[in-house]
Amino acid sequence: MDQKIVTLDEFILHREKLEDATGRLTAVLRDIGIASKIVNREVNKAGLVNILGTEGSSNSSGDTVQKLDIFANERMIHCLSNSGEVAGIVSEEDEKIIILPKVKSKKPEYLVVMDPLDGSSNIDVNVSVGTIFGIYKIKSKAKSEEITDKDFLQKGTDLIASGYVLYGTSTMLVYTTGNGVHGFTLDPSIGEFCLSHPDIKIPTSGNYYSVNQGYYLKFDVEMRRYIDQCSDLNYRLRYIGSMVSDVHRMLFHGGIFLYPNTRKYPQGKLRLLYECKPMAMVVEQAGGKAINCKLERIMDKEPIDIHERTSIVIGSPDMVEEMMEFIKKYSS
Ligand code: AHG
Ligand code: MN
Ligand code: MN
Repeated sequence: MDQKIVTLDEFILHREKLEDATGRLTAVLRDIGIASKIVNREVNKAGLVNILGTEGSSNSSGDTVQKLDIFANERMIHCLSNSGEVAGIVSEEDEKIIILPKVKSKKPEYLVVMDPLDGSSNIDVNVSVGTIFGIYKIKSKAKSEEITDKDFLQKGTDLIASGYVLYGTSTMLVYTTGNGVHGFTLDPSIGEFCLSHPDIKIPTSGNYYSVNQGYYLKFDVEMRRYIDQCSDLNYRLRYIGSMVSDVHRMLFHGGIFLYPNTRKYPQGKLRLLYECKPMAMVVEQAGGKAINCKLERIMDKEPIDIHERTSIVIGSPDMVEEMMEFIKKYSS
């Protein structure tokens, strides 16, 4: 007999009852699911229409902006405006926070942080990209007031939910609300995300490492020694240039992803709020670890700026712990 198909909507509704959550978070997750289906449609036909290439402007961090970045950003914002549950968004593509209009008399409950399109340098060459999201509760004090940057400067441990969408050979949405990590694969024939990977657990170790080894000479000594060891042990180097894709591989096969500080990016390149913390929550929920190169747990960091950067070491717990020993041993 055919196995019963569980769609994302059914699953989150079911979890809502189990976890005694309110329907308000369900509505936000559902809107993210809808937005990612729309982004997926555009990513898939990107080669057919004039949407590839750079848009010509720069984002808040000075990177070249791709057209699909803009599209994904707009779609996500539009869909997150639907429910009236989200008061504001921090996006990689917008320097300032985005304040969403109120829906009727609803008092919004949540804030969303997002990287609408991760790995945008891959777009033009038909390689995987992703979307990263994190959901916070508005701290009670701010509910009646206009939200500000400060409301977003919460610890990773305050995240209510987080996840990512991977637009790869198939499209997957992976998310957690703090009770395990669950993966859904988009079935294009019915247009639904279907539960394909319940309760994902990361292998405790692996033989993949993921780092931009082109920057080897710009890394600190502890990082170079660790990479040397990975190479000595014949670990497999994989680096896609989209953190979502690299971390996704690691969740299933085990391994470690590193983006350390370099001379160009002394604090690291990736963004704490909307790249590292949501991915750290997913990986920790799957049994992994995520730290920065100062041995601080990513989830414990309280950002001081919405676009703050950080170094990151994330992945299988045994491998991250071993990396921590290298930092202790070699770092000055
Ligand atoms: P984005 O496309 O959102 O700017 O993110 C790209 C990020 C990350 O996903 C990836 O691992 C890293 O930047 C690649 O950077 P390098 O080209 O410096 O390795
Ligand atoms: Mn990114
Ligand atoms: Mn991006």
